[in-house]
Amino acid sequence: MTENDKSSQPKVEQDVVNPWEVQSSSDKGVDYDKLIERFGSSKIDDAVLARFEKIVTARGKKVHPFLKRGIFFSHRQLDEILTLYEQNKPFYLYTGRGPSSQAMHLGHLIPFVMTQYLQETFDVPLVIQLTDDEKFLWKDLTLEECESLSWENTKDIIACGFNPEKTFIFSDLNYIGSSKEFYWNMKRIEKCVTFNQVKGIFGFGDSDCIGKISFPAIQAAPSFSSSFPHIFNGRKDIACLIPCAIDQDPYFRMTRDVAPRLHYRKPALLHSVFFPALQGAQTKMSASDPNTSIFLTDTAAQIKKKINKYAYSGGRDTIEEHRQYGGNCDVDVSFQYLEFFLEDDEELEQIRKDYSSGKMLTGELKQRLIKVLQDLVALHQECRAKVDKAVIDQFTRLDRYKCCEDFPPLPQSSGKKKKKGDKKQLSESVQEMKVGDCANGKS
Ligand code: TYM
Repeated sequence: MTENDKSSQPKVEQDVVNPWEVQSSSDKGVDYDKLIERFGSSKIDDAVLARFEKIVTARGKKVHPFLKRGIFFSHRQLDEILTLYEQNKPFYLYTGRGPSSQAMHLGHLIPFVMTQYLQETFDVPLVIQLTDDEKFLWKDLTLEECESLSWENTKDIIACGFNPEKTFIFSDLNYIGSSKEFYWNMKRIEKCVTFNQVKGIFGFGDSDCIGKISFPAIQAAPSFSSSFPHIFNGRKDIACLIPCAIDQDPYFRMTRDVAPRLHYRKPALLHSVFFPALQGAQTKMSASDPNTSIFLTDTAAQIKKKINKYAYSGGRDTIEEHRQYGGNCDVDVSFQYLEFFLEDDEELEQIRKDYSSGKMLTGELKQRLIKVLQDLVALHQECRAKVDKAVIDQFTRLDRYKCCEDFPPLPQSSGKKKKKGDKKQLSESVQEMKVGDCANGKS
């Protein structure tokens, strides 16, 4: 497909957003306000941002441009995480990647860049799940290939700059078999969700293999701190915040539904918009279609070629028309990419004005973007080149993390009958679930 040729893209009535497909009929991309309504999440509005800013500036940190620019636009219970932080109570971060390609693309960077910022700002533990088992079930790949993709993707993830003291990166294929606690949580979750429910949430059908049907429990399990005793010292009550693009929300709607029934905390979420495909914002950048993507392994020449050839332009057909009427930043992919990665707010605003007025031409806009992306990818490649086996071992170790000391065991219950007034406290403090609870429909 060449620049601005969208004839082969299917038209859709309503935006489709799920873990496997993102499709909008509008040139401007997904209508995120409508999506917030449909998914029942909350907008990151000025009040939430102001509170966030107050907390981080008091600690000498800045608000990340992804938050200021509305790239992370939606949340669930972020306010509670901020309250915990203000009260000096712990929480942790959880994010992940389904390694379906050797290299990650620019879109995948979005949640990882945000997660790195949050870890650095709040100095909290982080778990990163590589769902290589998911890719085995969904793609035409062998287990060996999936494992090796996890290994390659781990290098890209580490290159984002996480704290090795507080970050645990695990491949499902490798970790789950060695962790009783993780596996037991999977079983607990599986017992709480019916086939009917996963059909409703994920659209699974009768011909889907049974591995897919139970997979959501595997992505849900890291939301509960008891899945990682070597990090949280066996504590079950540590709150979790999950940064991801909004396509992953169905997994966590399910998780939040199940959590109270297991006497666990519901995970909080921070959702980003999608980094668009080169051909336009109707769909996200996706590793399954290499022509839509700029990979973190691309050379400077490849980046230049892809932007010049494919990046959908909001410019006019002729220079004369462009000078007269100006370009349309709302649909221009190069401008949208700059909104993600050009750090300088003033320069971005100037480009918006100049492009919209026709002073700046599409070629000039693309030139600026090419430079920004070449620098970003070159820096990433430099960091990735330093990630060797010893570095990976630091992030994937199963021995006790030093931060375990930050999570002293909770006092044991005395075994005495609780008084009436203790009821609320009881449901918030985390207890071992009786396996019969879910099957009996108790909540
Ligand atoms: P995966 O590998 O599809 O995507 C990894 C992360 O990148 C986000 N993402 C994007 N963000 C912005 N623009 C895009 N074009 C774009 N494409 C992908 C995804 O939302 C995700 O955050 N099943 C998951 C792996 C996973 C996970 C998690 C993700 C396991 N546990 C917890 C987030 C949080 C997957 O296949 O992601």
